[in-house]
Order: sequence, then C-alpha cells, then structure tokens
Amino acid sequence: MFDGVAKHYDRTNAVLSAGNAYLWRIATVRAVAPQPGERILDLAAGTGTSSVALSHSGARVVAVDFSPGMIAEGRRKHKNIEFVEADIEKLPFGDDEFDAVTISFGLRNVNDPKVALAEMYRVLKPGGRVVICEFSKPPRALLRIGYQAYLNYILPAVAAATSSNREAYNYLADSIKDWPDQGQLSQWIRGAGFIRVAYRNLTSGVVALHRGRKPVDAAVLASVAKRTRATTRRTSSSAAKSAVAKS
Ligand SMILES: C[S@@+](CC[C@H](N)C(=O)[O-])C[C@H]1O[C@@H](n2cnc3c(N)ncnc32)[C@H](O)[C@@H]1O
Repeated sequence: MFDGVAKHYDRTNAVLSAGNAYLWRIATVRAVAPQPGERILDLAAGTGTSSVALSHSGARVVAVDFSPGMIAEGRRKHKNIEFVEADIEKLPFGDDEFDAVTISFGLRNVNDPKVALAEMYRVLKPGGRVVICEFSKPPRALLRIGYQAYLNYILPAVAAATSSNREAYNYLADSIKDWPDQGQLSQWIRGAGFIRVAYRNLTSGVVALHRGRKPVDAAVLASVAKRTRATTRRTSSSAAKSAVAKS
C-alpha cells in the first residue's frame, strides 16, 4: 500500500493537512533537539522528509522504512540520508546505539505498536530520547465531531484528487479513528520502560507529540530488560500454543 502512494506522498500530505504537516515537522525536530554528531534513528521515515529536517542540525540520521517504493523515492530526493529497508518490529541494530529515536505518523501503522516501542527502547542509549508524532484525539467535543466529519467526507474526496491510490487514504481515515488517545499511548510508552513521559497537543489535539527518555540507572535498566524478556517468552509461548491448536 505504501509503495502505491510513494510518488505523490509529500504533495498529498501537504494538501490533506492544509500545510500543517510542515508545522508538525518543525515541532518534532524541536522536541528531538538533534545535536551535531549525534546518531538519530528516524523510523517509518517514508520518503525521508522527516529525516532531512533532522539532519540540518549536523546529526547523522538513519532513515528506516519497510516500503521499497518509499525508500526509492527518498533515495532519489535526498542523496545525503542513509536509508535502511527494515521492519520496525525487528530492527537490524544492536542495543544502545542511538542518541534519539523518533517516529512520525508511523507507529499507528505497525502490526504491534508495543513490540515497536520495545525495539525503540532497545536500540536507544541509556538517557536517550524518544519522540513520537502521531494523529490523536482532539479533547474538545465540538472539534472532535468536526474532525470526524473531515475524516469521513473531506479527506477521501481530497485524496481522490491528489493521490495515486485512494484506497490507501480510506485506510488512513480508519486507522486514525481506531488509534488510542493521548493518555492510552502515554501508558504504552511507560509500559515499554520509558521515563519522563509527556505529550503536548498540536493543532488542538489532531496530532500529539509524545516524548520520553530511556533510564540511565543500571538497576532500572536491568529490571525493564527482565520484564521485557518475560513478556517476549510469554508472547512466543502463547503464539506457539495457538499454532499447535490450529494445526
Ligand atoms: C504515513 S508514512 C510516514 C512517513 C514519514 N515519517 C512522514 O512523516 O512523512 C508511514 C510509513 O511507515 C512505514 N511503515 C509502516 N509499518 C512499518 C514497519 N512495520 N516497519 C517499517 N516501516 C513501516 C510505511 O512504509 C510508510 O512509509
């Protein structure tokens, strides 16, 4: 699906967000606060527009995406960005490699966001920053109703006129409606082991910018690692049991 929208992805984004996509990117870069020489991981980087914005600081940015079409478009546009084709749920990096990990409008798309959060935690250095920019739920009722109407009627019509794949934008509207609100996502981020978790709303909560830190304290790191191993064991053993039951 993402291969199918790669060609006109950035243009469609700009139109659908009425220019706000540009402001959300600026806010995300400020929250990441990349420093010269730092190694920053930009997940679900798509065509690399978010990665380029991060690299202006002098940081070394690695852009990860699993869509060959998005990556091809990104490599064509941004020659100085390192693109890696990989699944966020199984990152091809060692533990504690990056100073900051960020993901814009990507966490909502992965199969299991909690597995993705665990991977983000694993590859971050102790003390490293995580920043997640994602669609969310406007807290004011009136705005929420207006936004639902936009998702149901306006977005499909605009996408049909500007995108190469209108089905993908029906998926976009559905995935936004099904996505948890600010409080729930904050709990998931804490559940992955991050500390100092906070968020701020952008465009009245249409988008939320979440942030957190990987702890530095060795005892805390060890207890999160123990918990993650136990969860992984439980998940793989119940997956194995359900595979046996099915066969
Ligand atoms: C809506 S785009 C966001 C692109 C970019 N971050 C931006 O802000 O413009 C979502 C991207 O997530 C990628 N994606 C979805 N699930 C993924 C996964 N499990 N692993 C890697 N990339 C994934 C898609 O290929 C797509 O390029």
